Amino acid sequence: MESADSLLQMDLSAGSDDWSPTPHGHWLARMLAENDLVRGRDVLELGAGVANHTILIHWQGARSIVATEITEQLLETTRENFERNCGTEADIRFRVADWLSTEGRFDTVVSNPPFCQSGKQNRRYFLDSLILDAHKRLRPRGEIIFIQSSMADFGETERRMDRNGFDVEVVGTTSGPFRDYYFEDQEFLKEIEDVDGGYELRDGVYHEHLRVYRGKLREWAPHSNAHTPGQS
Ligand SMILES: C[S@@+](CC[C@H](N)C(=O)[O-])C[C@H]1O[C@@H](n2cnc3c(N)ncnc32)[C@H](O)[C@@H]1O
Repeated sequence: MESADSLLQMDLSAGSDDWSPTPHGHWLARMLAENDLVRGRDVLELGAGVANHTILIHWQGARSIVATEITEQLLETTRENFERNCGTEADIRFRVADWLSTEGRFDTVVSNPPFCQSGKQNRRYFLDSLILDAHKRLRPRGEIIFIQSSMADFGETERRMDRNGFDVEVVGTTSGPFRDYYFEDQEFLKEIEDVDGGYELRDGVYHEHLRVYRGKLREWAPHSNAHTPGQS
């Protein structure tokens, strides 16, 4: 089996509009490389960006992949990087899709969801949406694997995952200094003051903690008197 470090070597290119991987993306990549999370599984990856995780998901033995982005242009970067590193024979579809608004059922959904720059009134929107609605894209006992900052509130995520039927596992934790762009958004800096354990000051330097979560859907059936016509 290849070492995690060699799995992290890939040839990536990005244009000025593409999301260049940050420590969040690097940590999720490391956790995918060091753990056997996707082997033999049909995977939906949301917001695939420069394909830094798509490539690993393939190298780690996923059975099939659907990789999404929000525009055709961003998806083109995903496709180009993937094909440069993995060739053109892999079982992969590239789809433009707005978050979970796509078709199919999968064993695993993987993402590094937008947060600080989510552009939503609820900055946690993409995290919350994933936790609330991923079940519509998952097979029974399916899984979500994602990375999140302490600034997005670990406690909130863990409560919501439990409430929405996921057993919660922390795959790996790390921490690092704030990105420069955090300091450019005064609203953001105010919001994180309300998050318990949202950040830590070490020797005068602001640090965030990062966790990769794995949520596994519990067995469940609707209550016998549930009114759910036409719902999935
Ligand atoms: C935090 S970046 C992660 C990119 C890449 N996976 C990584 O880790 O470096 C979030 C990605 O989600 C994409 N995105 C934003 N809104 C989206 C939406 N509504 N549906 C799908 N993807 C979206 C962005 O274009 C961006 O590539």
